[in-house]
Amino acid sequence: MAGLIRIGIVGIGQNGVEHIRQHLRVGKSTISAICDLQDDRLAWAGSEFGVTNLTTDVDDLCRDPEIDAISINTGDAQHRVPFLKALAAGKHVLLEKPVANSVEDILEMVDAAKAADPRLKIQVGYILRFMPVFEAIHAAAESGQLGDIYYMEGDYIHNLLYQAEKTDSTTGRNWYLEEEIPMVGGGSHPLDLLRWFSGKEIVKVWTYSTHVAFPAMQNDDCQVALYQFEDGSIAKVAALYAPRCAMAPYYNVRLYGTRGTAERDSLAISSSADDVHPPFVPVDTERFAGSFADVSGHPFAPEIEDWLDAITEDRPTRISLVDGASSSLAALLSVRAADEGREIEVPRL
Ligand SMILES: NC(=O)c1ccc[n+]([C@@H]2O[C@H](COP(=O)([O-])OP(=O)(O)OC[C@H]3O[C@@H](n4cnc5c(N)ncnc54)[C@H](O)[C@@H]3O)[C@@H](O)[C@H]2O)c1
Repeated sequence: MAGLIRIGIVGIGQNGVEHIRQHLRVGKSTISAICDLQDDRLAWAGSEFGVTNLTTDVDDLCRDPEIDAISINTGDAQHRVPFLKALAAGKHVLLEKPVANSVEDILEMVDAAKAADPRLKIQVGYILRFMPVFEAIHAAAESGQLGDIYYMEGDYIHNLLYQAEKTDSTTGRNWYLEEEIPMVGGGSHPLDLLRWFSGKEIVKVWTYSTHVAFPAMQNDDCQVALYQFEDGSIAKVAALYAPRCAMAPYYNVRLYGTRGTAERDSLAISSSADDVHPPFVPVDTERFAGSFADVSGHPFAPEIEDWLDAITEDRPTRISLVDGASSSLAALLSVRAADEGREIEVPRL
């Protein structure tokens, strides 16, 4: 595909707006149309970004031959319909994480992706895979520097109390309070990193969950799960939505292997079998920083660039639908484990 890729944005809340800004920054696409159910947001975004093709109906984007690719930024439980429509219309898709907020939606979306034309490029927004620090840890794990990894941790500790003040102007509701599941919306981020680092799939999960710190949320606000991987290795993931503390620059991520350890942004690698206390050294991020060296928190630019380049070069994206769905599904099943008070098996997609 030559020239700028023509994008339709679906959902222009906080995240959709950021996607538009980062498309403009990357400079390999043009925003051809914006779709949202809220007229006030549409009008604001149209004037802010100079886009005239504004609609409340995703079908308008799907049937538009002037749109090559669709970026889906609706709430977690509103991903399925625009995703299925975009794929059926032959559009490339960037789908925000989690893939969906229910097991049924995920399975339907996986079937659709498997049946779709393989030339359609799907990127799932597990954005932490584009943080240079985590790319460096992934490279160390993948190249065997850590040896056999047998225990991992990853936490999503992020205060969302501000959501209690917000409502949707069309519905008067706020999906974050009514539908958001911390282990799925938040915890699946570090869980996805752990799957990516280890290159292994999850087979079982067991979870405990409480509802103390964020009463306005309908779901529990603190969830802690133990995942077992196919080789018997174990991961602990915690998701907390109302911690009282400043945000750490990197989420807690730890990998323990037979030759080395990764903790947040540093690595300790044994030089020999006798070297049991190797010091921690900050990871070398230089080779991963690329053209967006200043990314922090949310590396939207490299994630979007990878999707656009995959379309142009007809190559896979970093996070395929099945790959991203595997993280989202394991997180959703962890919630079922808490609800049912038992270990749950996680099927391979
Ligand atoms: N990757 C990340 O780091 C990251 C960060 C924040 C949010 N997200 C994800 O991005 C998504 C959006 O989050 P947000 O905070 O922007 O939510 P938001 O509520 O601020 O915005 C969602 C928008 O989607 C619109 N919408 C809902 N259904 C629609 C439909 N059928 N057609 C058109 N528009 C529709 C709503 O009107 C709203 O404007 C969520 O899935 C969230 O988990 C990802």
